[in-house]
Amino acid sequence: MAKSVVPKAQRSFEKVNEIVRKYEAKESMLIPILQEVQEEYRYLPEEILTYVATALDISPATVYGVATFYAQFSLDPKGKYVISVCDGTACHVRGSSPVLDAIRKKVNLVDGKITTDDLRFTVQTVSCLGACGLAPVVVINDKVYGQVTKEAIELILDELIQKEAEGDN
Ligand code: FES
Repeated sequence: MAKSVVPKAQRSFEKVNEIVRKYEAKESMLIPILQEVQEEYRYLPEEILTYVATALDISPATVYGVATFYAQFSLDPKGKYVISVCDGTACHVRGSSPVLDAIRKKVNLVDGKITTDDLRFTVQTVSCLGACGLAPVVVINDKVYGQVTKEAIELILDELIQKEAEGDN
């Protein structure tokens, strides 16, 4: 049976209302409001940006402008697991490219997509994470993996995929 991974709009707005209320609907609190909304949904859906604008009584263009200006905000959906592959020089030299290819293949990402259709995985490259001694480095959400090989990351992902499949039952 098809599963719904996208939260129902109504439920979404309830949570947004809570966040807006917490910051007393102050325009000066727009950035922390957007940060919390993004924490909740992993990105900033367009309809929620419009909703926040209405709630704060400011123009959607203002909210959209802030959301697009700061790199910390994402307007595209992100997966439950965000996999960041370091592509800094040390990691690149020590083989981050085959690791990246293996990850994309394992989670079935094709055609230049960075997020799987089921919103489970986002795979992105990032610049030096400051842990070059551990190169190549991969971060999955907050967990750092060092000296990653193609084989090692395949095992890690197999476990995650298995865990997700069990969670579906
Ligand atoms: S180059 Fe990857 S951690 Fe520095």
